[in-house]
Amino acid sequence: MNQETETLIKDSIKTVPDYPKAGIMFRDVTSLLEDPKAYQATIDALVAKYKDAGFDKIVGTESRGFLFGAPLALALGVGFVPVRKPGKLPREVISEDYELEYGTDTLQIHQDAIQNGDKVLMVDDLLATGGTIEATTKLIRRLGGDVKHAAFVINLPEIGGEQRLQTLGLEVFSLVAFE
Ligand code: PRP
Ligand code: ADE
Repeated sequence: MNQETETLIKDSIKTVPDYPKAGIMFRDVTSLLEDPKAYQATIDALVAKYKDAGFDKIVGTESRGFLFGAPLALALGVGFVPVRKPGKLPREVISEDYELEYGTDTLQIHQDAIQNGDKVLMVDDLLATGGTIEATTKLIRRLGGDVKHAAFVINLPEIGGEQRLQTLGLEVFSLVAFE
C-alpha cells in the first residue's frame, strides 16, 4: 500500500474523544464506510495482501468485523463465517468467554462452519487488547481450523494487542495505526 492510500484511509477515520467514556479516543470506522473511495481502497489493500495466500475461509467478528471481512471474502472468492455474540446463530454453536475491561463476554461460532484443516484468515476493524481475536482464534482452533493470520484496518499499538496475539502464533497485519 502506498503512502497516498494509507493517508486516504487514515484521514477518513474520525476520532471521537471521550467516547464511550472519559479518556478513550474512539476511532470511528463509520466515517470510512461513508467514503466510497476510502472503503474501496481498504478492501483493495486487503485483497492485494491476501489474494495468493490460499485461505479457505474468512472469519469476521461481530459486528464491525463483518463490514470488512464479508467484502474481502467475496473479492477473494472464499466463504465468510461470522463469529457472533450469544444467542444470534441459529444452528449448533460452540462458545468462548473472554475478558472485557469490566467483566466477561462470550462469542460463538457455528460448529459446522469450519472444516478440519481449513486455512482461515480472521478480519476485524480494530485491534486494541486483542481479547476479541484471541477468543475467535480459540473457537476456530477448537473446530480444527488452521488459523495463523489476523488482519485489521486499525491497530492501536500502545495497548499491546499485537504482542498478545503473537504469543498465540498469529501474524498480525494492519493498514493504519493510531498512537
Ligand atoms: C470492538 C472492535 C473489535 C474489538 C477490539 O468491538 O470492533 O472487535 O472491540 O477490542 P479488543 O482488541 O480489545 O478485543 P466491540 O466488542 O465494541 O463490538 P462491535 O464491533 O459490535 O461494536
Ligand atoms: N474498540 C476498543 N477500543 C476502541 C477505540 N479506541 N476506538 C474504536 N473502537 C475501539
